[in-house]
Amino acid sequence: MATNIIITPEQEAQVAQLKLWFEKSLRNTQREGIDNVLWQLDERGFYTAPASAGHHLNEPGGLVLHSMHVFQMAKLLKATLKGGSNMITGETLMPEIDTLLPDDSIVIATLLHDVCKTAIYVQATKRQKLPNGVWTDVLGYNLDYSWAPFGHGEKSVIMLQNWGLKMTEDEMLAIRWHMSAWDLPFQSAEEKSSLNAAKENSALLTLVQTADGMAAGIMENDWTAAITRLKNKGEADRFTL
Ligand SMILES: [Fe+2]
Ligand SMILES: [Fe+2]
Repeated sequence: MATNIIITPEQEAQVAQLKLWFEKSLRNTQREGIDNVLWQLDERGFYTAPASAGHHLNEPGGLVLHSMHVFQMAKLLKATLKGGSNMITGETLMPEIDTLLPDDSIVIATLLHDVCKTAIYVQATKRQKLPNGVWTDVLGYNLDYSWAPFGHGEKSVIMLQNWGLKMTEDEMLAIRWHMSAWDLPFQSAEEKSSLNAAKENSALLTLVQTADGMAAGIMENDWTAAITRLKNKGEADRFTL
């Protein structure tokens, strides 16, 4: 199981702050089983893991930062639906949205959607070509799926259930299918039909999938910029429920 990630003192301080916000938001849900989930994540290196091996936030602490970004995007999208104005009529868009998208479900489904990535990244030395054409050694990651190789979204649901977390069906669907068709075996008609049915049944799934894409595709192209934004305490406080 890959947990031996080396981090600098500065990264360690960033990770400690992110861990604080992450744990506070999840504990505020008072969900049955959450304490054991947080203990398991800590033990297995969730907080020091990167969000990817070579794409978005591939630095120690990237996975917890990505999870917080998805939470933040989902909160903003819900707030827009709840309080935003219809551009044509001027009326409030969806004041009833709380019944479809309860706050605690957003916290659970966004912050925990990628727990499947815990303990899959192994630090390794990689060769990289500099702009001047010279090759150099840099610290990167290899992937190791030997611990709990259940897939991606389905692995997150399985691990959370194994750790005793009580989830609604909506939350499980949102976590299971958050990759939408990107994680779909196209030879399987049953998987396609299940994804379509999940989308019809779960507004939370669409919210998590959209927030995940916006976080990875817009907020996380630049690690330095993402970390700098965190240093503004005012913005960071909005992470919590
Ligand atoms: Fe994912
Ligand atoms: Fe994600």
